[in-house]
Amino acid sequence: MKTVVITGATSGIGFETASLLTEKGYEVIGIGSSAESCSSAEKQLLLRNPSAQVRFYNADLMQLSEVSRIAKVLKEDLEAHCGNLYALINNAGCVRSWYMTTAEGYEQQFSLNFLAAFLLTYELMPMLKKSRGRVIMTGSKSHKGVNVHWDDVMLSKCYNPLLAYKQSKLCDTLFAKGLNDMFAAKGIRAYVVDPGLVKTDIGNRKTGALVNSIWSFRKHFGKAPSEPAKTYAFLCEQQIEPKGFYYHNCRENAYSKVVTSENAARLFKLSERLCGIRYGEVF
Ligand SMILES: NC(=O)c1ccc[n+]([C@@H]2O[C@H](COP(=O)([O-])OP(=O)(O)OC[C@H]3O[C@@H](n4cnc5c(N)ncnc54)[C@H](OP(=O)(O)O)[C@@H]3O)[C@@H](O)[C@H]2O)c1
Repeated sequence: MKTVVITGATSGIGFETASLLTEKGYEVIGIGSSAESCSSAEKQLLLRNPSAQVRFYNADLMQLSEVSRIAKVLKEDLEAHCGNLYALINNAGCVRSWYMTTAEGYEQQFSLNFLAAFLLTYELMPMLKKSRGRVIMTGSKSHKGVNVHWDDVMLSKCYNPLLAYKQSKLCDTLFAKGLNDMFAAKGIRAYVVDPGLVKTDIGNRKTGALVNSIWSFRKHFGKAPSEPAKTYAFLCEQQIEPKGFYYHNCRENAYSKVVTSENAARLFKLSERLCGIRYGEVF
């Protein structure tokens, strides 16, 4: 049985992806921010499919210390079961209305939407290596048209929450590009799924009245989260790893010209410093 770890699996896109993958016979380990959301998601998945192979762990992935803690738990869990990881889906994400930082002092959208994935993937690389695994990032069309603010990546000097969100999704895409540059030859491949506009509550959580009401209106034009779930399943199901990179509706799609090897290497350097790790030393 192939094991897939999904962050942000308690609701929205992550939950529907977990549901579809368990239906297709994958073993799913879901991560959510609280014990309550995890237990509720696990119950709902088992109600849908009583024979689903699924278990959840909770961690506040916004905090890098929590990412390190849960990575250790996941490694122990995987060692005790199959010993490897077929796919890691870095999907947990948030939207903010104003500048908010984590305990480590990092801007919250940057920290959860990108940095947590950067660190978690690093920690799980040995398990991914064993199965020549796949890393799937949840991206967004909104990454197009922005650049990385290299001199102030947390945007602390002039904060714009929408720009911070878009930049975090550009970083997700650059991260996947950099992973392929470094590890595709070793058998680990990374992809980005652009889900499109999806009807979830992401803009209604911990946001101010304005963002809340704009999102409440906008989300009604979105598709059901079960739609983008099909693209994650498509990327997991191909026996021979797909050669594309950026996917929308199970098809390759165009991405920003800013997504270059040079920018990916620059992001790796910066993020390695923020996380205190070195990807070059991973194997
Ligand atoms: N909806 C869209 O139109 C859209 C479009 C493009 C991209 N996306 C991306 O899709 C991804 C999933 O979002 P969604 O729309 O499905 O929203 P969602 O339903 O709000 O899902 C967000 C998920 O992230 C988890 N999460 C939030 N904060 C966390 C934390 N501190 N630690 C651990 N997990 C945390 C949530 O878990 P808990 O419930 O346990 O907190 C939940 O499972 C995000 O990366 C988002 O940027 C969404």
